[in-house]
Amino acid sequence: MLRICFVCLGNICRSPMAEFIMKDLVKKEGLDKEFFIESRATSNEEIGNDMHLGTKNILDKNNITYERHYATRLLKTDYDKYDYFIGMDNYNILSMKKLFGTDKKVYKLLDFAKHDKEIDDPWYTHNFTITYDEIEKGCRALLNFILKNK
Ligand code: 4NP
Repeated sequence: MLRICFVCLGNICRSPMAEFIMKDLVKKEGLDKEFFIESRATSNEEIGNDMHLGTKNILDKNNITYERHYATRLLKTDYDKYDYFIGMDNYNILSMKKLFGTDKKVYKLLDFAKHDKEIDDPWYTHNFTITYDEIEKGCRALLNFILKNK
């Protein structure tokens, strides 16, 4: 069982989008029993809240199924619960390194797509389409990386 935790600032836009896209990808590969996939926030801003409506809309548009989401804070004690912590931007990476005291297991999503880029935050850009496309590309690259390194 491979355990992946996607991480962003609020856990209502980017990381739950990545969680449900990745769940869809592994399900389509028939690998859902081999993966445990969740998402977490580095801030307290949205704790307990559901995904942003823009996130739900773009997931609907792309036929990605999802459940009621509750934004949840990433804790130091989560470190042993996952194999990969996948941040969306440089600030997420910094927050995780500070929290865990190590950068082992910590990655930025688009590093897997060989792009030194961050995932734009639609909370600020209001563009959920660009964010969806970037996250989908990153998740496909992450899955390829994992399958190659199994
Ligand atoms: P996310 O977007 O990190 O992609 O979930 C944000 C959501 C909420 C806030 C910031 C970013 N906020 O400041 O409340």
